Amino acid sequence: MGWSNERILVTGGAGFLGSHLVDGLLAAGAKVRVLDNLHGGTLENLSHVHAEIEWLEGDVRDAVIVRRAAAGCAVIFHLAANASVPDSVSDPVYDFETNVTGTFHVLRAALEAGCRRIVFTSSAAVYGPPLRTPVDEAHPLEPISPYGGTKLAAERLLAAHARTFGIEVASARVFNTYGPRQRRYVASDLLVKLRRDPKHLEVLGDGSQRRDYCYVSDTVEALMLLARVPAPEPIAVNIAGGGTISIRDLVARILALLDLSGTEVIYGLPSWKGDIDVLWGDIARIRGIGFEPRVTLDDGLGRLIRWFEALHGPIGR
Ligand SMILES: NC(=O)c1ccc[n+]([C@@H]2O[C@H](COP(=O)([O-])OP(=O)(O)OC[C@H]3O[C@@H](n4cnc5c(N)ncnc54)[C@H](O)[C@@H]3O)[C@@H](O)[C@H]2O)c1
Repeated sequence: MGWSNERILVTGGAGFLGSHLVDGLLAAGAKVRVLDNLHGGTLENLSHVHAEIEWLEGDVRDAVIVRRAAAGCAVIFHLAANASVPDSVSDPVYDFETNVTGTFHVLRAALEAGCRRIVFTSSAAVYGPPLRTPVDEAHPLEPISPYGGTKLAAERLLAAHARTFGIEVASARVFNTYGPRQRRYVASDLLVKLRRDPKHLEVLGDGSQRRDYCYVSDTVEALMLLARVPAPEPIAVNIAGGGTISIRDLVARILALLDLSGTEVIYGLPSWKGDIDVLWGDIARIRGIGFEPRVTLDDGLGRLIRWFEALHGPIGR
């Protein structure tokens, strides 16, 4: 289905995932407007498309600018958020105001502007520690971090308003997306540390934690599908790679891709509060909508490494 006659708002579009979504939407022919306060994102992520988008620097905590941003848009991809569990622990107020109040502003502005649909990036954090794996969408929702709590509150707020006022809502419960332009989280953190010292690598936790990685272009494809699938009722859908890898194995893959054989890996640095040991998503529902992850972990990590080295210089060579 084409996007060429629609104006689309991407909140958080200067961030890692948002900037790739902007690329995907522009490639599909959409007219794209971006609202971002550059809290975690950067204009560098959009420098290659700056002339093609409508750029609005502003904060989702400000209802007036959100109303301006939503005007005339058919679909809103709402990604603007505190996207970090540790930051939600150190600053729960910013986390709440952005993730909950900000989402409320987006919702009200969307209703006022007559938008057709909101696609919201929720998170695997809404589930809390898994009672069974892989985690499907019917799994109990018991978040253990402020971030998981605000994402769940936002999901519920959107769904309740969708049922009351009729706007369509799709919540994407994103697991671990990775790729170029990601400046934090496990894979990128490991590269930062290895660039500093390729001989020693300190890793959080004991390495047994498991993650479910999905390459960023695959996640973008899934988000774009969620803008189109029939959703007379609000829907919540996992976006993940559908497999799981231990941090220990991830470290080994990254070292192999970098040709680093003599690196001493030291496990046991304390992990952060709110961290979940096992993230593994059941992707049957998004597969049923037509999604299939395409980029393998080795291929995706290779692309992340090439981007990182082009920006920061070679690692260990
Ligand atoms: N990357 C992942 O693996 C992952 C996993 C689960 C959920 N998500 C969700 O996907 C979305 C994008 O995540 P990301 O990894 O690209 O993070 P990111 O930090 O790169 O992107 C978030 C963007 O939101 C912007 N932002 C923050 N506060 C804002 C505010 N008050 N007003 C306007 N803009 C604001 C930031 O500047 C940034 O550009 C987030 O909603 C995040 O919670 C991501």
